[in-house]
Amino acid sequence: MTNAKYESLVTQIKICVQCDLSKTRKQAVPGEGSLNSKIMFIGEAPGASEDAEGKPFVGPAGKVLNEMLQSIGLTREQVYITNIVKCRPPNNRDPNPQEIDRCWKYLEEQMSIIDPEIIVTLGRHSLGNFFPGELISRVRGKPRRWKNRTIFPVYHPAATLHNPRLRPALQEDFQNISSLISNFNSDIDAKTSKDQEDLQLSLEFNTNHTSTPKEPSDTQQKVSKNIKQQRLI
Ligand code: URA
Repeated sequence: MTNAKYESLVTQIKICVQCDLSKTRKQAVPGEGSLNSKIMFIGEAPGASEDAEGKPFVGPAGKVLNEMLQSIGLTREQVYITNIVKCRPPNNRDPNPQEIDRCWKYLEEQMSIIDPEIIVTLGRHSLGNFFPGELISRVRGKPRRWKNRTIFPVYHPAATLHNPRLRPALQEDFQNISSLISNFNSDIDAKTSKDQEDLQLSLEFNTNHTSTPKEPSDTQQKVSKNIKQQRLI
């Protein structure tokens, strides 16, 4: 899908010089995936491989993320993947508050364009930008609301490479993401079929209570337009 607003945002990110990370990066890493997806994965910042390729999560951590997605029947192309900070911090240090602050508007714009229902925060740094002070080990795998969206915190895929004992927890959390998606989709399907039934009944009422067949009213046309699939994936 092409989206002029999104393309212009990507261009802005690629030429951004609002913080010193622009001086050491090879290239900025805006993010990638489906703009229609209702699920967005947000990591911390690009590493060396991402900096070289201009794509998020393409190094060792990305390999784990791909495996986790695959384990629940998803591909990278079906979701949207990005980071809190779009440029690699030197030597993979944590991004500092000023860098995060300067970059936050880009993430906000991505959230506004893609409008995800579920945001999966990858790791404690990403989580900390939505819920400051929360401990990842305490809140991981527990969905919670943030500005009309569901935030689902999980361990960072790279953490499972340093500490393989965290991998089962990450696997379990991805299974729960899958259930969250299924539940959301079932609710949408039920609502869609109820809206369709209601529209059908009101169209039939129109036909049965007038001598001459009527065109659908403005309201009926509006309802019909709104009955569209809004499934997560
Ligand atoms: N770690 C991150 O947080 N993001 C990436 O894109 C790669 C590694």
